[in-house]
Amino acid sequence: MSQLNDTSSILALLHTRKSASAKAMGEPGPGPDQLAEILRCAVRVPDHGKLNPWRFIVFEGSARERFGAALRARWQELHPDHGESALSFVQGMLLRAPTVIAVVSTAADHPKIPVWEQVLSAGAVCQNMLLAATALGIGCQWNTDWIAYDTEVAKLMGLARHEKVAGLIYLGTPSAPLEDRPRPDPLALTTRWTG
Ligand SMILES: Cc1cc2nc3c(=O)[nH]c(=O)nc-3n(C[C@H](O)[C@H](O)[C@H](O)COP(=O)(O)O)c2cc1C
Repeated sequence: MSQLNDTSSILALLHTRKSASAKAMGEPGPGPDQLAEILRCAVRVPDHGKLNPWRFIVFEGSARERFGAALRARWQELHPDHGESALSFVQGMLLRAPTVIAVVSTAADHPKIPVWEQVLSAGAVCQNMLLAATALGIGCQWNTDWIAYDTEVAKLMGLARHEKVAGLIYLGTPSAPLEDRPRPDPLALTTRWTG
């Protein structure tokens, strides 16, 4: 599937973009140059105070297997009653795509810039990553799952106490057609302030 979304213009991409599914994603992933380009686009986001309140952890190759083994052990600890099928699913989560990027929000108290704004900037980073990958013809999905919220997994990723996973961006080649979903009518979400 060469053309995932309409990338003929920026507006066409914005009007049509939709995620691939990590459940149906395979090789190849982004090559080194494409990965570098995705990251360059990712950091080009509004960032009040120029704090760069985000960082990235790339999971590729056998690192995904080692991480998966640790996820499995953690899941077993959390859910000792779960059987092999649940454990192997957890173990294989990052193996579903050739490249997974954890976008880490490093938002911290600052004398002028609220933490909220720093966190929003991390969301913008995730979206830019999706747009860049889509423009390159690479399937992508922004996930979090339990992985983003477990304190032991955070330690495994090397996160500091104040850091949070904003997203796990799965990147690869979709093995199934992309499915769209109904989109809201923006006018129904919009009012005009009349005082
Ligand atoms: C912060 C965040 C976390 C998400 N986590 C998951 C997730 O763990 N699993 C999932 O299936 N979708 C998750 N999604 C939804 C998908 O990224 C995506 O929105 C959906 O698959 C299709 O929407 P799209 O085609 O507009 O991108 C998450 C979205 C956001 C913004």
